[in-house]
Amino acid sequence: SIDISTFTKQTGFTTLDQGFVNTASTRSSITYIDGDAGILRYRGYAIEDVAQNSTYLEVAWLLIYGQLPTPSELAEFDERVRRHTLLHEDLKRFFSALPHTAHPMSVLSSAVSALSTYYEDSLDPHNPEMVELSTIRLLAKLPVIAAYAHKKSLGQAFLYPDNSLSFVENFLKLNFGNLAEIYEVNPVLVKALDRLLILHEDHEQNASTSTVRLVGSTEANMFASISAGINALYGPLHGGANEAVLKMLKEINDSGEGVQRFVERVKNKEDGIRLMGFGHRVYKSFDPRAKLVKESADEVLEALGVQDPLLDIAKELEQVALADEYFIERKLYPNVDFYTGIIYKAMGFPTRMFTVLFAIGRLPGWIAHWREMNEDPRTKIGRPQQLYVGEPAREWPAAR
Ligand code: ACO
Repeated sequence: SIDISTFTKQTGFTTLDQGFVNTASTRSSITYIDGDAGILRYRGYAIEDVAQNSTYLEVAWLLIYGQLPTPSELAEFDERVRRHTLLHEDLKRFFSALPHTAHPMSVLSSAVSALSTYYEDSLDPHNPEMVELSTIRLLAKLPVIAAYAHKKSLGQAFLYPDNSLSFVENFLKLNFGNLAEIYEVNPVLVKALDRLLILHEDHEQNASTSTVRLVGSTEANMFASISAGINALYGPLHGGANEAVLKMLKEINDSGEGVQRFVERVKNKEDGIRLMGFGHRVYKSFDPRAKLVKESADEVLEALGVQDPLLDIAKELEQVALADEYFIERKLYPNVDFYTGIIYKAMGFPTRMFTVLFAIGRLPGWIAHWREMNEDPRTKIGRPQQLYVGEPAREWPAAR
């Protein structure tokens, strides 16, 4: 590979690469993907091993600091995150200004932006201590904001975080506990949610991470950059796909049109419909995360005693698509989002919270990339070129 900026300067050439299909925007040592072989590694560790053996906060440490933490480093990190879970009481009033129908992704990105207003004296991207503090604050507070967005949509009271609980237990209680009853944390849900969050923690230069890096390259603070990343994740071609998959499965179920007929409509590109949760820019044989999520879907539904016809439809869709020339030719396989929605639904989350769960999962990756970019002396402001295809120079009309 050559450094294209040097090449461009020397030759005067500009490359047009719509959608950045073949352009690396940075060097990175966080995540490795081999899309043809279906390999994903965090800091060199296979995703299968990470998902099997770790926890959300341990993986966050790994991604952010580059190595696995020692037990005492992890305990101290966990303790610091727990100490920062509270939101300023004034910020809680921010939620009252929004309609209860607000999409929780909009609430999340606005609240992260608003959160930074409480810390204006500690946002300096060049001060390592402040960067550390912003890291902890975001990890601690994003799940609380997410749970409040959920509670707000239900018209229920916000709970205070219970810092005697683990990260995932606390998050479940904030979402599903209420003031009137003692909340019993279900260990099946804790294990499954921890695993799903781990699988989402990083995925190199995807659209939202690239957004975080682009905004951060202007030396904007971490909160501003991550709020932008949340907005990029919202779209149905990216994180919003998990919500779109469930809607699609529900429509197939409710309409009774059958899987075969639906797949035909996708192939005919009727109204531009796509098989949501299928296809990936990078994975061209299989998405290793999808395989792990599918296993979890079976385990969780069985453990919870849930029988969901949408899981049967998803499995049939996968089978039909994987045997069909249209999908084979285009190398389209289930991606991480294909089965996640079914698990989130079984856990009790409403469809509109699915992408929010993805955002909590992806947060450590966003932070790791933002920090890597800021620590790299070669970083420059991101500023793509364009090929101008508009009018040539024109005379301003004398009389108008
Ligand atoms: N269903 C049907 N056809 C598809 C699908 C799909 N899900 N995905 C791609 N195709 C077809 C396209 O129509 C195109 O066909 P054509 O050559 O006949 O025009 C061909 O496959 C190539 O598609 P592109 O859009 O060029 O592929 P790209 O790499 O740009 O897009 C993307 C990747 C956005 C993920 C796409 O596969 C898609 O829209 N999938 C559905 C949405 C989804 O699940 N997104 C989640 C991605 S993973 C994540 O963000 C966590």
